[in-house]
Amino acid sequence: MSYKTLLTELENGILTVTINRPDKLNALNRDVMEDLGKLAVEINANADIRGAIITGSGQKGFVAGADISEFVGLSVTEGMDLARKGQSIFFSIENNGKPIVAAVNGFALGGGCELAMACHFRIASENAKFGQPEVNLGLIPGYGGTQRLVQLVGKGRALELLMTGGMIDAATALQYGLVNYVVPQEELLPKAKALLATIVAKAPLAISRCISSANAVFDENLNGFEAEIAAFGDCFDTEDMREGTSAFLEKRKPVFSGK
Ligand code: COA
Repeated sequence: MSYKTLLTELENGILTVTINRPDKLNALNRDVMEDLGKLAVEINANADIRGAIITGSGQKGFVAGADISEFVGLSVTEGMDLARKGQSIFFSIENNGKPIVAAVNGFALGGGCELAMACHFRIASENAKFGQPEVNLGLIPGYGGTQRLVQLVGKGRALELLMTGGMIDAATALQYGLVNYVVPQEELLPKAKALLATIVAKAPLAISRCISSANAVFDENLNGFEAEIAAFGDCFDTEDMREGTSAFLEKRKPVFSGK
């Protein structure tokens, strides 16, 4: 698939995706959002892709937010449409069947913080900064930020960030549990690739069911424990479960086929 605003590189089943608008700190304009929607479809559909990393071009910005220039003159209905489309694209990342990790290499503000939060987990470089500065613009987050920030850092810390519009540094994001690791900039992609290499070596259908079961916690239409029971049961109908358990009992390494 070709993209207007994303650079992609596939190596050993891991797709590294770089949002490429460095002169605008990779702000999410319509083209980037459209590309991210297509990307989520491609990650699910392309059997050669086992997992993906999303990062930003340059050493300063992951994504500095939605593109503010596209907000000018929007009506209430257009504002709602924008949020609905953005949320649907970020849902397709969050609910992807394959693991997607955010490698946050600089500012992750507004829609950038929301994009990072839609990924399955986050790794940050030491210079990364996180925030939801929409109140400075007379706005609030619209791509799921009010929901996922509460889920990830708790209501008190989330509301402080949302209402002050302030930024936190990478060390604070680590302390809040917003990111899993903080590493020097040059170690960011190697760290993300090493973690994903561990994950994509496991049984793909089991990985996919870890994602859907964990997401079920936050889906009010699902009982997460029931979702887990169904996903656990489905594993018994896979070649990989038979292979994984046999390999353990035969004291050898499993070879997973994704079936
Ligand atoms: N939308 C559109 N353009 C953006 C942008 C955004 N969210 N964030 C940065 N840019 C653009 C700037 O306008 C500037 O473009 P220009 O060179 O054509 O003037 C370029 O990216 C570089 O940004 P600049 O502000 O010069 O860099 P800085 O280092 O001084 O400041 C930030 C960095 C991130 C603090 C600052 O760019 C900023 O506050 N951005 C907006 C963050 C925001 O409110 N995001 C939420 C949007 S809903």
